[in-house]
Amino acid sequence: MRQETDSQSAALAIRDLSVSYGRIDALKHVNLEIREGEIVAILGANGAGKSSLLRAISALVPVSGGEILSHGKPIHTLPAEKLVSRGIVQSPEGRQIFSDLTVEDNLIAGGFTVSASERKANLAMVYERFPILGKRAKQVAGTLSGGEQQMLAIGRALMANPKILLLDEPSLGLAPLIVRDILNIIEQLNEQGVTVVLVEQNAKQSLKIADYAYVLEVGTISIEGPAEELLKDDRVIEAYLGKS
Ligand SMILES: Nc1ncnc2c1ncn2[C@@H]1O[C@H](COP(=O)(O)OP(=O)(O)O)[C@@H](O)[C@H]1O
Ligand SMILES: [Mg+2]
Repeated sequence: MRQETDSQSAALAIRDLSVSYGRIDALKHVNLEIREGEIVAILGANGAGKSSLLRAISALVPVSGGEILSHGKPIHTLPAEKLVSRGIVQSPEGRQIFSDLTVEDNLIAGGFTVSASERKANLAMVYERFPILGKRAKQVAGTLSGGEQQMLAIGRALMANPKILLLDEPSLGLAPLIVRDILNIIEQLNEQGVTVVLVEQNAKQSLKIADYAYVLEVGTISIEGPAEELLKDDRVIEAYLGKS
């Protein structure tokens, strides 16, 4: 297991975490640590428990065992909205934008935890980062391209001032060039100080931008290590990097 930092400093320390849906154990005694300023990639096949992990961190599913600490303090007892206002913000799998609302109204919805003045400032910041969203501000979100919708999903998360950004398969279904754009954006956000937990199908590309990575297999961590080491790990190459 990863050498523990002192528990006060970890942005997220996940200890012995289990998540179940009825009789299905989606996560079984998972331990992992996200340090401040890192990009941590979570790899794994469909059904491995990646989304369950992010949902548990965001309090979108109940935790059936273990604990989640942020800077040494338990957060798995807090409601989802509290986590968002503390800067733990998720961009969910499948983007989940409101397709009947305009781009701007989607963004405003993402700023539900911040003050009106901050919301206005954040909206300007998102339009600066994603000029295409500014151009399409009054357009209904369902009419955006896949890449634009993903930018909207990330922009909506940025509206809440994330310190820790949880991204669930942000490149799913996007063309390779757009995937690169999205990963570049994630890297830039990280350089500007946002800690990132990145669940990705594009294992090679995400390991290239990540500091550390965990591989989930049917609810448990099977491999972990610095991302550059995982890129050279035969087990990872065979299972996740072979085709890409
Ligand atoms: N709402 C749910 N109800 C019942 N089982 C679920 C639910 N969500 C996920 N699961 C099951 O939990 C396991 C992990 O799923 P998930 O966390 O979505 O994996 P991943 O994101 O890695 O594809 C799978 O067996 C999946 O079928
Ligand atoms: Mg998933």
